[in-house]
Amino acid sequence: MQDRQAIKESVRARIDMVDLVGRYVGLRQQGSNFSGLCPFHEEKSPSFTVSQEKGVFHCFGCKAGGDAFEFIMRIEKLDFPQALEFLANQVGIDIPKPGQKDSPQQQLRQLNEQIATYYERVLASPEGQEAVDYLKNRGLDGKTAKKFRIGFAKAGWQNLISQFTTQQEHLKTLGMAVVNQQGRIYDRFRDRIMFPLCDAQGQVVGFAGRQLHPEEGSPKYVNTPVTPLLQKGTLLYGIDLAGPAARESGQLVLMEGYTDVIAAHQNGIHNVVASMGTALTKTQARLCGRFTQRVILAFDQDTAGQLATLRGIQSLLEEGLEVGMIQLEPGHDPDTYIQENGVEKFAALLKNSRSFFEMYIDMLLKQHDVSGFNGKQQVLNDALPFLKGLSNLHWRSHLVSELSAALDLPNEDIVQMLRAPQKALATSDQSPHNENIGHLNQEEQLFYFLIHGHLSFERATSELEMEDFARYGGLWKLLKGCHQQKGSVQLEHLYEFVDDTWKTELSRLSVSENVHADNITRGVEEVLQHFKANRFEKQIRRLETSIREAESVGDGEQAKVLQQQLLDVQRSKKAQ
Ligand code: GTP
Ligand code: MN
Repeated sequence: MQDRQAIKESVRARIDMVDLVGRYVGLRQQGSNFSGLCPFHEEKSPSFTVSQEKGVFHCFGCKAGGDAFEFIMRIEKLDFPQALEFLANQVGIDIPKPGQKDSPQQQLRQLNEQIATYYERVLASPEGQEAVDYLKNRGLDGKTAKKFRIGFAKAGWQNLISQFTTQQEHLKTLGMAVVNQQGRIYDRFRDRIMFPLCDAQGQVVGFAGRQLHPEEGSPKYVNTPVTPLLQKGTLLYGIDLAGPAARESGQLVLMEGYTDVIAAHQNGIHNVVASMGTALTKTQARLCGRFTQRVILAFDQDTAGQLATLRGIQSLLEEGLEVGMIQLEPGHDPDTYIQENGVEKFAALLKNSRSFFEMYIDMLLKQHDVSGFNGKQQVLNDALPFLKGLSNLHWRSHLVSELSAALDLPNEDIVQMLRAPQKALATSDQSPHNENIGHLNQEEQLFYFLIHGHLSFERATSELEMEDFARYGGLWKLLKGCHQQKGSVQLEHLYEFVDDTWKTELSRLSVSENVHADNITRGVEEVLQHFKANRFEKQIRRLETSIREAESVGDGEQAKVLQQQLLDVQRSKKAQ
């Protein structure tokens, strides 16, 4: 168990003093400090100062001063243990209660935390000098290195292991120690600059190590493998530090490398994260969606060239996010671009980012001569796999409209192509009876059936609720309004109720060919079934959380009641 002092230090290290004080006091930058009106005495001109670098505040008027803990104790009127808990909570650090034994998960988390601190210490020691020089040479300053908790793993096979001799099993579990075929245990990270990987709460869940001395056959970066704390494709590097800036600016910049994120931060751009070199997963896209509506990709040139095949972009679009892009000169990544051209130029690029669709169509148009019909057809052929794979209704019809404008073809022609059998291209995971409605997801299919009168609105409203819709709740509401006023949800009536965005989508839904009659009935039932199953699952998840809560406060009675309910829901789901 970590002692209080260690927890205090970890909390302090993670608090940004300007961010913290800024929630209570309007602050303005003044040289290297920030100032504002003192919250602890009446004043008309600001004598209250905050140093971000030192993590302290001081009022020249009333002489109040101190660190983050002092500030919170005063302003929230708490004693020290309460202030510690208050701040620990904010940065996602657990404070163990006296006498309480740590869970294995907590023990692993704490060990990761200690490992990060150990690597930081090594970097600061004489043995880390070469690594420090390397980082300085790359333009990194000490403050930023601290913020990202950069450390160093010395050369040698058992440095980490001998630091934590009693915790070898945990080291193995965390992927920090490896056992060879002879059964010898050794450090995974050797002679590498260490970057702790943190989750959204800022807790260390793994590490990435960059080689200090390039070596034949050894990868530039080594990452922690999958562990109980780190699932594959769930992490975004820097997300713990990007949140406030992403929310404030309404956008999150997605880069490829750790060093890109770090360089951006050092230069005052905080709404940045890195995908860590692989295509973005759905989980990562969802994580982006928690902070922003708009993601800007700042990838290098090569990647932009393979734009359409990038599953990462698809994940973002599926999530309903707007995707913008910037293009750097060939051979640059954001890190080198900022070093060479200055951050203002980089910020200007971000400001003038272009929409992904615009860039994508530009690329397609460059590849073919679209003055004639053949060229247009080729562009459509190229775009088709991407278009078909895109199940988000909004973005799909957006792309259809953009293509239609760019190629000077009617929307319907493109929709027609989409529907035309292109079996080789369609990655169909749909049951055969509804392949005619292509890749509509379950929600879209439901609207398709409603608009075509295959499913009565009365039945739909009796079986579905607003919260059943993940993405198309807005359209559902419009349908309800339309039904109330017009007594129907027929397309010609619906048009009066929807704006342009929905209009194109509705028209796309409306132009699908007749599906075979007996299959429609089955399709309708299946979609409704899907919604019902979803609702059960939501209930189950909710009950599971409540049970865990009841158990954690020792309310056995309540837990039992809830478990019974859970059983009932699980049975109903099975009986479905
Ligand atoms: P620097 O060379 O230090 O500037 O790093 P970088 O981030 O610019 O490297 P690069 O553009 O080559 O790679 C981008 C990202 O891909 C890295 O930040 C890593 O997340 C990942 N990556 C690159 N090389 C490797 C590798 O050899 N192994 C693994 N697992 N990931 C890598
Ligand atoms: Mn780089």
